[in-house]
Amino acid sequence: MDDNGKPKVLIIDDRHSSRESVSFALVRRYDCLLAEDAQKGLDFLDKDEVSVVILDIRMPGLSGIEALRLIKQKAPTVEVIMLTGYASLDTAKQSITHGAYGYLTKPFDLADLRSTVDKAYEKRTQAIRIVEERDNLKQTVNVMKREIGNLSRLADVGWLSAGIVHEMKSPLTAILGYAELMLRHLEARDSQAMLPSESARYLEIIKEETIRCAEMAKSLLEAARSGGSRPQPIPISRVLDNVETLIRPQVHINHVRFQIERPAEPLEILSDPDDILQVILNLLLNATHAMKSDKKELRIVAYAVEPTCDLPSCTAKEKEFLSRNQEVPFVALEVLDNGPGIAPDQIERIFDPFYTTNSVPDSAGLGLPICKEKAERNSGHIDVVKSSSEGTTFRILIPMPK
Ligand SMILES: Nc1ncnc2c1ncn2[C@@H]1O[C@H](COP(=O)(O)OP(=O)(O)OP(=O)(O)O)[C@@H](O)[C@H]1O
Ligand SMILES: [Mg+2]
Repeated sequence: MDDNGKPKVLIIDDRHSSRESVSFALVRRYDCLLAEDAQKGLDFLDKDEVSVVILDIRMPGLSGIEALRLIKQKAPTVEVIMLTGYASLDTAKQSITHGAYGYLTKPFDLADLRSTVDKAYEKRTQAIRIVEERDNLKQTVNVMKREIGNLSRLADVGWLSAGIVHEMKSPLTAILGYAELMLRHLEARDSQAMLPSESARYLEIIKEETIRCAEMAKSLLEAARSGGSRPQPIPISRVLDNVETLIRPQVHINHVRFQIERPAEPLEILSDPDDILQVILNLLLNATHAMKSDKKELRIVAYAVEPTCDLPSCTAKEKEFLSRNQEVPFVALEVLDNGPGIAPDQIERIFDPFYTTNSVPDSAGLGLPICKEKAERNSGHIDVVKSSSEGTTFRILIPMPK
């Protein structure tokens, strides 16, 4: 195509009058390039995107068939129409077997010329479209192959985890039993001292967490069988209390300043309690891992998002999600850190299974894909809403009960 959007036709003919008359017939629909010999014609093919070549068979220098061969070598998708007199009709017929689109015998009818060029142009356009479609299909197949690879690895991980979780039941029961025994022991001692000891409080946490692990193991095995979460109304304050208890040892060990900004009014979300807890904990652990400076700061902010209300720093994916759920009120849970941020080219990939910048086997690159899966399974959404050298903000949107 030229700048006016007209397709280009190259006319190669040693006779000036012949070039002019062909060009005159085509100039309304095509941008005509004129060459008086095959070599000049080949030079045009180097510079211009030519759709159709009209090639005189009898010219001084290269033979018609030889010129056709060189043209096809240089521009395989270009269509070539041979111009011939009766004397070279056999050569013209032969040229078809060498890849020419067709031939016109001189003197030709102008209408014939136009319709042959139109058809040759149409054939080339279709051929290019087919090549483009084939390339697109190839790309889609490659993406699907990668996804199938990821899925089968995930399936393997799923089987392995189900096996491990199954085997975890006995040690968990043992931990729970011994924690219970120690607790009774301490209670008997504390009742004399009238004060529950710190140790008793710690044991209580160990007991509760062991019960939670057992519950998670149970629900994972159930999910493996039935494939589902159980969303239920839960106060956001309970979720945040649990998060605070569970993350306390991590933030303490890593010297992180940790803060929760709770909503002014009591809010409820509709979610499987373990799912939402795991999503937040995963985000907090990732952030704790990413922050390397001396002043590590981690914050959770929770607030209500009423339908039609503007969300601060709303991402395109969030906009799309909210527009699909216009009637639904959501609670937003933001996890903010002051770590080094995520590079823009990595942001696209962090929710892909097995994507990690941490050393393997410490990290499997499964935390965020699991978070995404869990958020979506509870009709919610998760995205990175901000990331720079100042830090990163992830936001979970989770529906409120109706
Ligand atoms: N808060 C954050 N700050 C900077 N980078 C982050 C943050 N959260 C996630 N990332 C990046 O996203 C990547 C993927 O996170 P994801 O939780 O999926 O895997 P992981 O933490 O590397 O491994 P796993 O969670 O399986 O132990 C991380 O390797 C890290 O590069
Ligand atoms: Mg992680």
